[in-house]
Amino acid sequence: MDQLMDLANEAYASIDFESPSTWAVVGVAGATALFYLIKRSFNMIEHICNRTYIYNICWEDPAVDHEILKIDKNDVIFRICSAGDIVLDYAIEGPSKIVICDMNQHQLYLFELKIRMLRDPKLTYQEWWDIWGSSDHEVAMKVWQRMRHTMSGEGRQWWDPRIERIFKTGFANSGSSGLAARFLVPWLMYVVGFNLKAWAETGFSHEYITKNYHMVERSAWWMRRLFPSILAPFAGVPPNQIGPEFYTTEFYEGILREILLDPDFGAHNYFYRFYYEKGYKDQTCCPRTLKKEHFDALKANAGCFEWHHATVQATMERVKPHSFTKLVLLDHMDWMPNSMVHDEWVALQRATVPGAKILWRSAFTKMDDKPFFNNLDIDDMSPQWYAKDRVKMYPGTFLSYMPKDPLPFVDPAPSPCQRASFVRKMKTTTKMILHPLTAGKVNAHGDKMSAFYASQAKGYDAVRENMLVARPEMMSAFGPIKHGHTWLDVGGGTGRNLHYLRAQLDLFERIVVLDICPELLAIGEENARLSFTKSQCERISWVCLDINAPNVRSLLAPHLRNDLTRGFDTITFSYSLSMIPKWEEALESAKSLMSGEGRVLVADFDTYTEEGKSLKDFMIRAWYKQDGVRIEAKTRGVITNKVFSASKYQVSVARFQKKLLGVSIPHMVVCCREPMFTTPTGIRRQSHPDLTQMEEKKTD
Ligand SMILES: C[S@@+](CC[C@H](N)C(=O)[O-])C[C@H]1O[C@@H](n2cnc3c(N)ncnc32)[C@H](O)[C@@H]1O
Repeated sequence: MDQLMDLANEAYASIDFESPSTWAVVGVAGATALFYLIKRSFNMIEHICNRTYIYNICWEDPAVDHEILKIDKNDVIFRICSAGDIVLDYAIEGPSKIVICDMNQHQLYLFELKIRMLRDPKLTYQEWWDIWGSSDHEVAMKVWQRMRHTMSGEGRQWWDPRIERIFKTGFANSGSSGLAARFLVPWLMYVVGFNLKAWAETGFSHEYITKNYHMVERSAWWMRRLFPSILAPFAGVPPNQIGPEFYTTEFYEGILREILLDPDFGAHNYFYRFYYEKGYKDQTCCPRTLKKEHFDALKANAGCFEWHHATVQATMERVKPHSFTKLVLLDHMDWMPNSMVHDEWVALQRATVPGAKILWRSAFTKMDDKPFFNNLDIDDMSPQWYAKDRVKMYPGTFLSYMPKDPLPFVDPAPSPCQRASFVRKMKTTTKMILHPLTAGKVNAHGDKMSAFYASQAKGYDAVRENMLVARPEMMSAFGPIKHGHTWLDVGGGTGRNLHYLRAQLDLFERIVVLDICPELLAIGEENARLSFTKSQCERISWVCLDINAPNVRSLLAPHLRNDLTRGFDTITFSYSLSMIPKWEEALESAKSLMSGEGRVLVADFDTYTEEGKSLKDFMIRAWYKQDGVRIEAKTRGVITNKVFSASKYQVSVARFQKKLLGVSIPHMVVCCREPMFTTPTGIRRQSHPDLTQMEEKKTD
């Protein structure tokens, strides 16, 4: 050991601290260490959740929730717990039940401590304030000794060794957000030169910030550098919630301006003052749950809670069906992929009454990247509420009513008859790749399609399963399926899309699979007979037709009980639009075939870049062109600006890349739908009903 120390001392003595190269090496080593530390911090949320809670107070403004939700005595409410103070705030209104869940057990331990204290018959208002307003550890310990036996075993075990220390150090310093507020924020303020103390002495005045606006600018500059990589995990912001705007100084300056220049900051913004003042100074600027006038109601309603250590979906699957009337989902859907959001909403629909009010927040102002949201008629409350929200953590505030008709249930597994042996798959793949070399010369578009697909028809479904990956994403935007729904699948081929909805086929009045290639339709019809019931098959028409046929409307009318005004509720194009030469006309045809509440969905290949002009774009275009597939950036623009203009339709575009044999391939899902709204009973209606038509019907 001594030898080792000698060696180390010798090595240290030999370092030339005057030399610039020494400092260069130290600099590189330091930067590398910092880089790894920052990289590791992205897994930090998990580390934190395994040890403690993140939020010691909720970071949403309950005043906004109350204005939007209007809670009453009949409500059964669901909310993600977080620090639990907002659900307690809801309880003041006396709803019949509040169910909460959280994936971080420690958030629930914090909530449990509060609720068990409230349920202690001896708890006085003064004790409640001393503990949660002033973090008085002596009072906390006195009450704890009185009620600790009412805690769950796990909750008691967690708090026993910590409760005294947490309240002694200051409850505001607890959890990872408290830790960040205690150590990182003062350091950041020092670096930025933001004199919090001087500002506090002016009573957090508006004038002080206006005069010292450079501090806001400097803070924004530093936040841009530090938030995405270092601070985010402490605030519970995961990497997938960090959008491109988090890498701009303007984003932070905008938020800071909104918070700090609010003239009422000093009087009402108890959220940020809680961290600076290490609790709440007095009862004029604190949560409603700590105000004397609400204490009796809070205690009287403390019995209305049920809590689950589970995900939202798991909680929904546990509770009694059709229970909830109002739900608050916070921002957790930002963290999830489309398929997970979709599955969760299917569970939410099962657990809620039709028309249940659902409020959520987001770090983003748009949710177009998740096609599922097209099933919902969403009120974007952000412009109205962001300015009034005192926390300003979430630029997006959204409200929706749960539709009465079932949300699509997308089953991604192919039916057994769509699978194929390895040999069949190899044969089909070889035919697909060699087609440009082996194809004979045919001119008509229909003949070209048959020449390409006839020999691949049997193995088509199995081979295309991993290639046409935007199909389930498109089906996710299908729209609520009412009894008597009608669906036209344009270029539907083997009817693969029908199998995604196999659980709900009984709801349809008619499904038309239209394709120009008879060989694919024949396989589709055979697969349907093997997979679906007889009565389901009777409601499916396999129509060999060109979507651009001049009389397409009258040719399809017999499939809609000869009612030319009926139209289709959902029209899909999955990877067919790029194969139709007159694709703009095909879109116009589809538009003319939509019902009054219809939607057109397109899933297809996309370009890598917005403009489609990169080398990769050129290569993918050339490769797919051999098989008659057209990939152009302008397709998106034509759909969204020309055929389905935003002034008349609700349009969303999701773009994503997925790997195929190690190569990223770009795909898109476009949804164009008639504007609708969901009433508080869950029934969906057209936003602008055509009153002239209604008049005509009456006179008939
Ligand atoms: C890549 S396949 C997609 C098939 C199916 N939608 C799927 O997702 O598996 C393209 C389909 O579009 C069909 N198609 C091409 N042009 C068409 C047209 N003008 N009218 C109807 N169908 C057409 C082809 O026959 C082919 O079945």
